[in-house]
Amino acid sequence: MHHTYRNEAQRREWQNPEKILMEAGVKAGDALIDLACGFGFFAIPAAKMIGSKGAVCGVDIDSEALEELRAQSARAGLSNLHVKLAAAEDVSLCKQCADIVFIGIALHDFKDPLKVLQNAKRALKTDGRLINLDWKKEKTPFGPPVEIRFSEAEAASLIERAGYNVVSVEDSGPYHYVISADLIP
Ligand SMILES: C[S@@+](CC[C@H](N)C(=O)[O-])C[C@H]1O[C@@H](n2cnc3c(N)ncnc32)[C@H](O)[C@@H]1O
Repeated sequence: MHHTYRNEAQRREWQNPEKILMEAGVKAGDALIDLACGFGFFAIPAAKMIGSKGAVCGVDIDSEALEELRAQSARAGLSNLHVKLAAAEDVSLCKQCADIVFIGIALHDFKDPLKVLQNAKRALKTDGRLINLDWKKEKTPFGPPVEIRFSEAEAASLIERAGYNVVSVEDSGPYHYVISADLIP
């Protein structure tokens, strides 16, 4: 069961995608891969921020979500947003092409999160960054069951096991944390 939060306006009350992306260092011209992009709560704002000199590629296993993302992207006139129907365990899209691999409230949803993180490593440029935003492992007014969430420590240790160097772990709004990691040279 997935928690996709389809009411964007409501979600924006507790999560600001532009702020999160900006703080993650997303800038014009970047190439960003959004793993488990869903309806594009982050992919659409990212594509707008990145502009025509960069690109966003959203990956998800939910074809309906991707259809809706495509439609939304067309309505917004975005030509730099691409989608790929695939399991994040199975694709790495390209080799050393991405400035940022972003995972938004999804790491705990993957069947094999370690494999997803390892795949993502191949797709990152040598100076690229992994950004993992997720629910704090504590009771919140909504969100997935606490038992299935990864704590900051669990997520950070998984990311390190996959071969990254964790650079920062910070709070992100009232219910989330964000982990930034780079590649070990
Ligand atoms: C909670 S939603 C988050 C969606 C989006 N990142 C957001 O913040 O709105 C989790 C997403 O993970 C996707 N997903 C689950 N397992 C996946 C996998 N193995 N590969 C790719 N996407 C997956 C689901 O289809 C769903 O869209």
